Amino acid sequence: MSYQNILTSLENGIFTITINRPDKMNALNAGVMQDISDAVDEVYNNADIKAAIITGAGTKAFVAGADISEFHGLTVAQGKALAKKGQDIFFKIENAPKPIVGCINGFALGGGCELAMSCHFRLASDNAKFGQPEVNLGLIPGYGGTQRLTQLIGKGRAMELLLSAAMIDANAALQYGLVNYVTTQEELLNKAKSILAVIATKAPVAVSKCIAAANAVFDETKNGYAVELDSFGECFGTEDVKEGTSAFLEKRKAIFKGR
Ligand code: COA
Repeated sequence: MSYQNILTSLENGIFTITINRPDKMNALNAGVMQDISDAVDEVYNNADIKAAIITGAGTKAFVAGADISEFHGLTVAQGKALAKKGQDIFFKIENAPKPIVGCINGFALGGGCELAMSCHFRLASDNAKFGQPEVNLGLIPGYGGTQRLTQLIGKGRAMELLLSAAMIDANAALQYGLVNYVTTQEELLNKAKSILAVIATKAPVAVSKCIAAANAVFDETKNGYAVELDSFGECFGTEDVKEGTSAFLEKRKAIFKGR
């Protein structure tokens, strides 16, 4: 598939999605959002893709937010529709059956921080900055930021960031648990790829079910323990559980088929 606003590449089963509007700090306009949505559909549907990385082009920004020029003059109904579209795309990332890692290579503000938080986990380069500055614009986050920031860093810290529009640097993000690692810009993608290479050796159906069960913690329509229980049971219907348990007992490395 060809895209106007993102770059994609597939190497060793890892699909890298690079938001590509560096002259506008990779701000999320309608075209970028559509491309992200289509690229995530590829992650779901292309069997050659085992995992994905989302990052930003250039050295300054991951994504500096939704494109503010598209906000001007919106009605209440249009504002809600925009948020719904963004929330749906970010839910699709969060609920993807394969790991999606955010590599935050610079500013991750507003919708950029929300995009990062919809990924399964995040790494940051040492120049990264995170924030939800929407109150500066008379707005609040609309793509899940009030919810996911609170889930990831706790209510007190999230409230301070949401209400003050303050930015935090990569080390504070690490301390808050918003990112798992801080690296140099040069090392960022390699670090993510090395983690994903480890995950790629694990049973794919089990990996997928771990994502769904962990996400269920934050989904009030689901009972997370019930999701875990059903998923645990369903694993016994896979060839991979036979391979994984046999390999352990035979003291050899398991080779999983993903079924
Ligand atoms: N929407 C639209 N355009 C944006 C943007 C956004 N969220 N963020 C940056 N840009 C554009 C700037 O308007 C500028 O465009 P121009 O060169 O045509 O004037 C270009 O990107 C470069 O940004 P600039 O502000 O000149 O870079 P900087 O290094 O001085 O500052 C930021 C970087 C990220 C601090 C600053 O751009 C900023 O505050 N952006 C908005 C962040 C925000 O409020 N996001 C939440 C949106 S809901």
